[in-house]
Amino acid sequence: DDTKAGVKGLVDSKIVKIPRIFIHEKSKINQFPVSCNSRLSVPIIDFAGIDEDETRRSEIINKIRDACERWGFFQIINHGIPTSVMDEMMDAVSRFHEQDTEVKKQYYSRDFSKKFIYNSNFDLYQGPAAYWRDGFECILAPHPPEPEELPVVCRGIMAKYANYVMSLGITLFELLSQALGLKPHHLNEMNCSEGLLLLGNYYPACPEPELTAGLSSHTDSGFLTILQQDQIGGLQVLHENQWIDAPSLPGVLIVNIADLLQLITNDKFKSVHHRVLAKKTGPRISVACFFRTHFQDGTSSRPYGPIKELLSDENPPIYKEITIKEFIVQRYKNGLNGISALSSFK
Ligand code: SIN
Ligand code: FE2
Repeated sequence: DDTKAGVKGLVDSKIVKIPRIFIHEKSKINQFPVSCNSRLSVPIIDFAGIDEDETRRSEIINKIRDACERWGFFQIINHGIPTSVMDEMMDAVSRFHEQDTEVKKQYYSRDFSKKFIYNSNFDLYQGPAAYWRDGFECILAPHPPEPEELPVVCRGIMAKYANYVMSLGITLFELLSQALGLKPHHLNEMNCSEGLLLLGNYYPACPEPELTAGLSSHTDSGFLTILQQDQIGGLQVLHENQWIDAPSLPGVLIVNIADLLQLITNDKFKSVHHRVLAKKTGPRISVACFFRTHFQDGTSSRPYGPIKELLSDENPPIYKEITIKEFIVQRYKNGLNGISALSSFK
């Protein structure tokens, strides 16, 4: 029952040493023989004027292509989501986690087909150790919860945020399609933007941050992730064998390529490892939205493989065609152990 109070529950009980289950082997925290580099930063792309003028749009598409090939990550400004809506969503995440355990407990579950669940470590039984993080998951599309299925503290904002993120996601998939030399609707027609899942992350301050991790190094499993984070910091992106800090800038959204987009683009766009350090300061709050297909009720049994238009004699398919279900099963088998599920489908 203690686990239902989450990591926050531990911190509230004023522990000074973290429980053993949270201790990560050093080698597992640093799965790559890498150093940190504080001089580089994830590319920033300004979306201002994107619908007004073709030249501007092509410029943006070129920047996106470059970022997706070299970084797998980019940051966007003037993306169309009002700062007030972003702030309201962050507040809702903080309010959810800071309410009484008794209230949170009602949502505690490991049944990921539910529309709204709260838990601490989704891969508790597969991962190398537990993470210094609590979180909730909410399915935003294609079948969002009814307002009354949501906790009171986030009822007002969830659908509004979902609409903004969905519309930005559709735009991003158009730009990504064009960056690949495909028709603008290609990726959306492959249902890349059909499903949307929101994760409301809460990383409490940690008394022994060097022994654990907020999230260990992993790649995201869907097609694309859109993330906003507060000013605490801790997110790092692996780039040319170095960990690069991805600090928050006000109003900025971070976008990253996930595994299934790497698969269908036949490695042209990269799903890049990232991690979240545990910190003495906190809580850190982030809101991650994952675009994925809808697979839960078996409607998406269609296979996904490298897009035919991207293949040639010089660029033969690297991956097999797989169903999303096969992919997810492999993903859960691996947990967040740093091994991408993609390597199983070559
Ligand atoms: C994630 O990697 O899914 C979350 C990252 C973050 O909290 O910044
Ligand atoms: Fe991630």
